[in-house]
Amino acid sequence: MTLNVALIAETFERAKLENGGLQTLGLRFYQRLFEKYPGVKHLFNTPPEEQHKKLMASVGAIVASVTQPEKMLPYLHAMGIRHLEYKTENAHYPAVQENLVAVLAEHLSAEGEWTEEMAENWNAALKVISDIMVEAADKPEAYQQELLDAGYLPNGFRVADPKPWEMVGV
Ligand code: HEM
Repeated sequence: MTLNVALIAETFERAKLENGGLQTLGLRFYQRLFEKYPGVKHLFNTPPEEQHKKLMASVGAIVASVTQPEKMLPYLHAMGIRHLEYKTENAHYPAVQENLVAVLAEHLSAEGEWTEEMAENWNAALKVISDIMVEAADKPEAYQQELLDAGYLPNGFRVADPKPWEMVGV
C-alpha cells in the first residue's frame, strides 16, 4: 500500500493535543506494553516517566522526516543497531507495533475519531520502520560506513551525545 503520510502526520499532531497529549500516550504505551507483554519488562531500566519522552521524540522525528529517507535511513539503522545493546529481539518488533497502534487508537478515540484507515497507515509505517531497524540489527557490519558518515559510532550511539534518539537536521 502507498502510505498516507499526511494522515500519519495529522494523527500524530492530534495525539499531541488530545487526551493529555504525548505524556498520557507515552506513559500508557509502557503501561500496556508491560501488561500485555510482561516478558519484555526486564529489558527496560529507564523509568517509564523518562523513557516515554525518548520514544515520543523518536516517533515525532520519524514522522517529521518520513518524506526525507536520506535522513531517516542512517538514523533508523543506528537505532536498530543500538537496540542490540538493549537485548531487543527481532520477534519483539510486532509486539511494539501492535502496542503503539493500540494505544494510539485508545488515545485518539477519547476525544475524536480513530478510523480503520488510520490503523492501516500506522501499522504499515511502523512495519517499514521496524524492518529497517531489524535489517541493520541483523547485519551491523554492513552499515558501519554509513553510520560513520552520519556521525554514529559502530554501536549506533553518537560520541558525547546523550540524546541519540533526536534526529539531527530535521
Ligand atoms: C518502532 C520501533 C522502535 C522505536 C522507534 C524505538 C525507540 C526507542 C528509543 C528512541 C529509545 C531510547 C534510546 C535510544 O534512542 O537508543 C529506545 C530504547 C529502548 N527500546 Fe526501543 N524502539 C523500538 C522498538 C523496540 C522494541 C521492539 C523493543 C523490544 C522490547 C525495544 C526495547 C527498548 C529498550 C529495552 C530500550 C532501552 C530502555 C532503557 O534505557 O532502559 N524497542 N527505543
